Amino acid sequence: MSNDASSKTPDAALSQLETESALSQALGTAPSAKGKFKIRVNSLIPDRATTFDTYIMINGKMILYLRAGDSLTARKIQHLEKADVFYVPDEQRSFFKGYIFDRMNEDQLDMKTKANILRESSMTLAEEIFEKEDVEEALADSRELITNFVDFMEKEPTAMAHLVGLSSHDFYTYNHSLDVAIYSLGLGKVLGYSGDELQELGRGALFHDIGKRHVKAEIICKQGPLDDVEWAQMQKHPQYGLKILNEYGVSEAMKACCFEHHESFLGNGYPQQLPGNEIHPMARIVAITDTYDALTTKRSYNEPMSPISAVEFMSTKLAAKYDPDMIKALNSILFKIRAAS
Ligand SMILES: [Fe+2]
Ligand SMILES: [Fe+2]
Repeated sequence: MSNDASSKTPDAALSQLETESALSQALGTAPSAKGKFKIRVNSLIPDRATTFDTYIMINGKMILYLRAGDSLTARKIQHLEKADVFYVPDEQRSFFKGYIFDRMNEDQLDMKTKANILRESSMTLAEEIFEKEDVEEALADSRELITNFVDFMEKEPTAMAHLVGLSSHDFYTYNHSLDVAIYSLGLGKVLGYSGDELQELGRGALFHDIGKRHVKAEIICKQGPLDDVEWAQMQKHPQYGLKILNEYGVSEAMKACCFEHHESFLGNGYPQQLPGNEIHPMARIVAITDTYDALTTKRSYNEPMSPISAVEFMSTKLAAKYDPDMIKALNSILFKIRAAS
């Protein structure tokens, strides 16, 4: 394993990912489009009529690209992937939701396609949530997002392996946060969580890095490695996150996902150096899925590990850092991913 994140230490890979994702967040995304919301091109299924108007941004101008009722071929969607996003008028949001709902309930589509549509259509929603300055609103909006995944996993037993096996192709903060949430739900489900507990776990994972909002932009935007002082600042994001969440009525479990996700089962994590048995179980899950996402996410200078290599790597070289029962559960997902692919 020389061309992947293991060529550095996993912690370095994770911290580098955190710096980059925060950088992307600080630099912002596409120009704002008042009155419209973004959807990913890959949210659309070839040859299915849309139920909403679709716009594309060219040189800062909104151009109507598809009218409601039109559809795209697979080739066209593939070609447009580079554009990445379409825009849909705010007043047609319910039509877009209906379109996704219908696809998720369509018998002809296989589970992998459905998992991909749910992730793709949720990604822009996660982006909206992370762009909100009002944390209370963001916390409230996250309920629907997480419920969609919980429902999908509960309805379709094979959905989890497909969701965990989807590989990331970019590293924006909202992608990282949503992926960590999805993986945490998958691992949580194998560990026996259900219903409200899964909700809490998913939302806790979604907001695990919210404390980065308070890390200075110059540290977040720095190209290259952080010096000791900067790194000490970056390592404060769990405390900052806890401070943010303490202002809202969120559960202890959600706070723990944020405050304890960089603790290690060996007792040498941060910020509290908690021994393994004192780390909240949901934070133990997020510690695993946070690293899994760091290892499997494509970065500009590194090829990502495949889901299978990442699970194998974490189950061997990194195993001591994590709850052993959870690593066993992670391995059981590996078999499911293999079976699903
Ligand atoms: Fe973090
Ligand atoms: Fe993270």
